[in-house]
Amino acid sequence: MKLEGDRLKGIIDAIEPIKDPEIGLSIVKLRMIDSVEEENGKTKVNIKLTVPGCPLSSTIEKDVKKALKERGYDDVEVNFGFMTKKELDDIKDVIRKERITMPQSIERYEKKSIKKIIAVYSAKGGVGKSTVVKLLAETANSMGYKTGILDCDISGPSITSLFNIKERAYADKDEKIIPVIKDGIEIMSVDMLTDVEAIIWRGPLVSSAIKQMYNDTNWGELDILFLDLPPGTSDAPITVFQSIPVDGTVIVTTPQELSNLIGKKTIVVAKSLNIPVIGVIENMSYFVCKKCGEKNEIGSSSVKISLPMLAKLPFFNDLNADKEESIKGLKIAIGRIVSG
Ligand SMILES: Nc1ncnc2c1ncn2[C@@H]1O[C@H](COP(=O)(O)OP(=O)(O)OP(=O)(O)O)[C@@H](O)[C@H]1O
Ligand SMILES: [Mg+2]
Repeated sequence: MKLEGDRLKGIIDAIEPIKDPEIGLSIVKLRMIDSVEEENGKTKVNIKLTVPGCPLSSTIEKDVKKALKERGYDDVEVNFGFMTKKELDDIKDVIRKERITMPQSIERYEKKSIKKIIAVYSAKGGVGKSTVVKLLAETANSMGYKTGILDCDISGPSITSLFNIKERAYADKDEKIIPVIKDGIEIMSVDMLTDVEAIIWRGPLVSSAIKQMYNDTNWGELDILFLDLPPGTSDAPITVFQSIPVDGTVIVTTPQELSNLIGKKTIVVAKSLNIPVIGVIENMSYFVCKKCGEKNEIGSSSVKISLPMLAKLPFFNDLNADKEESIKGLKIAIGRIVSG
């Protein structure tokens, strides 16, 4: 028989303090309790997991049994099912809100020997974040700064193909991962890790993968580490902002997107987590006529924004052939990043 009313509330109250070990929030708040039943003196708690095959379900089971035993429930059975995609989407908002209001409870990794950690991101996909990360890193490197890139895009990594990297990273004797060095830049991406999977994939969630890539890589001494974020305000950027000691963010946009920028959730998120927004890089801002050399603005960038404009980059016909001009423009941005 399904429990309802006060009897159900008593059980829910007992379970409330139990946290999902991976997400770090109450399993009740995460709407993981599907139902509670009672049958021949046995109490059955039916729980919906966020990830099928979650290796941490046994921890939840143990915690639930312990909490209920303290309330006098001796015969308890915990059953597991999985959330539907819709249910998962619904709890994402809960996770976001809870995490923003409780940033102090999130584990924060140490800075290591890295002077500046800079996240490059935007709410919208495909505006050129990864391209800008590559150009920023090349500019910083050309200015003599020791530079690294952590590709935080786990499901759509693009840094390895932008740098034409075929090598795999490998682990040293302390089980730390040695990043691939390309043109003097230290690079780490999930793409490079197939051979050291066992070290990296301890948790099933993307956020764990990002945190572990940051933490388990032997970066050595760096002046700047750029983080290439996936688009949007999903768990991945929030994990980065909360767990990695980010010094500041650079927002990439295009002229078409600029008008939508102010009030974008991403800026709100960065600000509410106390991450300074260093400024904006407007990508695909103009194109240069091949015949006459004239600069033509693309779209309207007349919208005033309250954030510093760090650089405007052209629409490239060929990124590698045309990048010298941009690198000149990006030196000012690097100056601001380093001094900020
Ligand atoms: N300034 C530019 N001129 C011409 N093409 C560009 C420019 N910037 C980026 N692109 C192209 O636009 C596409 C998207 O760029 P990129 O992958 O850097 O965007 P992104 O914001 O990182 O995307 P995602 O949100 O998927 O991570 C790529 O094909 C890239 O080559
Ligand atoms: Mg990208």
